[in-house]
Amino acid sequence: MSQKPLNIAICGVGTVGISTIEILRDQREALLSRSGRSLLVSHVGARREHTDHDYGDARVSRDVMDLARDPDVDVLVELIGGTSVAYDLIKLAIQQGKHVVTANKALIAEHGNELTALAETAGVQIRFEAAVAGGIPIIKTLRESMAANDVSEVAGIINGTGNFILTEMSTKRRAFDDVLSEAQALGYAEADPTFDIDGTDAAHKLAILASLAFGIPLSIDAPMKQGIQDVSPEDLEYAASMGYRVKHLGIARQTNQGIEMRVHPTLIPEQKQIAAVDGVLNAVMVSGDAVGELLLVGPGAGGAATASSVCADLVDIARNPGGSGPALGVPASQLSEQALVPSEQIASEWYVRLTAADQSGVMSDITQVLANRDISIESMLQKPPAPGSGKVPIVLLTHMAPQSVMTDALSEITALGEVEPDFALMRVEAFDR
Ligand SMILES: NC(=O)c1ccc[n+]([C@@H]2O[C@H](COP(=O)([O-])OP(=O)(O)OC[C@H]3O[C@@H](n4cnc5c(N)ncnc54)[C@H](OP(=O)(O)O)[C@@H]3O)[C@@H](O)[C@H]2O)c1
Repeated sequence: MSQKPLNIAICGVGTVGISTIEILRDQREALLSRSGRSLLVSHVGARREHTDHDYGDARVSRDVMDLARDPDVDVLVELIGGTSVAYDLIKLAIQQGKHVVTANKALIAEHGNELTALAETAGVQIRFEAAVAGGIPIIKTLRESMAANDVSEVAGIINGTGNFILTEMSTKRRAFDDVLSEAQALGYAEADPTFDIDGTDAAHKLAILASLAFGIPLSIDAPMKQGIQDVSPEDLEYAASMGYRVKHLGIARQTNQGIEMRVHPTLIPEQKQIAAVDGVLNAVMVSGDAVGELLLVGPGAGGAATASSVCADLVDIARNPGGSGPALGVPASQLSEQALVPSEQIASEWYVRLTAADQSGVMSDITQVLANRDISIESMLQKPPAPGSGKVPIVLLTHMAPQSVMTDALSEITALGEVEPDFALMRVEAFDR
C-alpha cells in the first residue's frame, strides 16, 4: 500500500464529471484496497465557478489545457464532450505522456483510430469504458473477456434516452416531446438531444462496438442510421397487439456478404429478453463461437452509472499502468477493413403500415404486388375505418426481403391510387438465426 497515489485530472464537471469526483471521494478506502494505491483527484478543469461543487484539495483551473500540461498528473479524464476541445485536450495529454480516460463516444468514433495509435506510440493507455452503454462493462467484455472468440454479432439497445422515450410512449401513451423534456431534466439526454433522437449517438457507439468485435478501424460513417423521431404511438400499439415491442437497436453482424452495421427502430418478439429492457436501461447481446450468446443489461446513462465505468478504467490503470492490451483489442496498425453490406441489400422481415381506401379489392392488389416480388406475408392486421374517413389502416408483417425489394414494392403499392403515399416501415428482428 506504499505506492504513490495515481494523480487524476478531471476535465469537465457536468453530470458525469461531478459524479466521478464524488465516487472517487466516497469510495476512497475501497478503491485504495482494490487498486493498491490511492486514486487522488489532484486537478480539476472547470471553465466557470460552481459554488455547489466540492473538489476537496484539488487544484482548480479554468483552462483545461493546463491539466494536460500539469507534470504531476498521471491520468487525464476527459468529460467535456464534443469533438473540438476534447480532441485537442486528449492529444495534448497523450503527447505529455499521460494516460487518458474518456466517456466521449463521438470523439472515439471520429478520432479513435488516430488517438489509439498515438497512445500506443507514446506508451500510454486510452480507455473509454463509459463511452458505450454507460455503466455496462461492454468494452472490457469485448476487448478482454471475448478475446478467445470469433464474434459474429453485437447488437443492442445502446441509447438510454431513446429507450426511455419509446418505453414511456408505449407503456404510458405519453407524447414524444413530453418524454424528451423529462429525459433532459433527469440528465439522461445529451445537452443537445438531436444525436439521441436521430440515431447518431447509437451509430457512434455501434462503430466502437464493431471495431472491437471485428477488428475493423473505427468508421463514423459506416452504420446505416435511422432515429426514433418517426415512430408513432399507433405503430407502437399495432406492434404490441401483434406480440412485438419496438426498440431502437444498433446491430453489427458478420455475414457472408460482409458486415452489416445498422441503427434503427426494430420490432422484437415480446418474449425475447431484450424486448423487456425498458426505460433508461441499455442491453447489449454478443455472440461468440466459443461462449455462445451473452446479454448484458444495465443503466446506459446517468451520472453515477457512467462515472462507475470511468472509475473502473481508473482502477485498471492504477493496477496496471503498463497496460492490459491495445485499446481496440488489436494494435491500431492491425485493424483491417472489411466489406460493408449496403443497407439496400440488407434483408430482414418487415413491419409495414399502410392507409388504404375502404373498398373491396385493395387487399388483393397489395398482396399481388408483394407476391410478384416474392415477399410473403407472415401476418396481417386490418382495423375498422375511423368513422367518416373511408380509410383503413392495414398492418402487415412480412417474411425476409432485402430493403431495396421492399421499398420498390411499396413504391408500386402507393402508386395504386387506393393507398395513401405515407406509410410506416420498420425492420423486425427475431434474433433466432
Ligand atoms: N450524461 C450521461 O448519462 C452520459 C453517459 C455516457 C457518456 N456520457 C459522455 O460523457 C461526457 C460528459 O457528459 P455529461 O453528461 O457530463 O455532459 P455535461 O453535463 O454537459 O457536462 C459537460 C461539462 O463540460 C464542461 N465544459 C464544456 N466545455 C468546456 C471547456 N472548454 N472547458 C472546461 N469545461 C468545459 C461544461 O461546463 P459548463 O458547466 O460551464 O457548461 C460541463 O460542466 C460526454 O462525452 C458524454 O457523451 C454522458
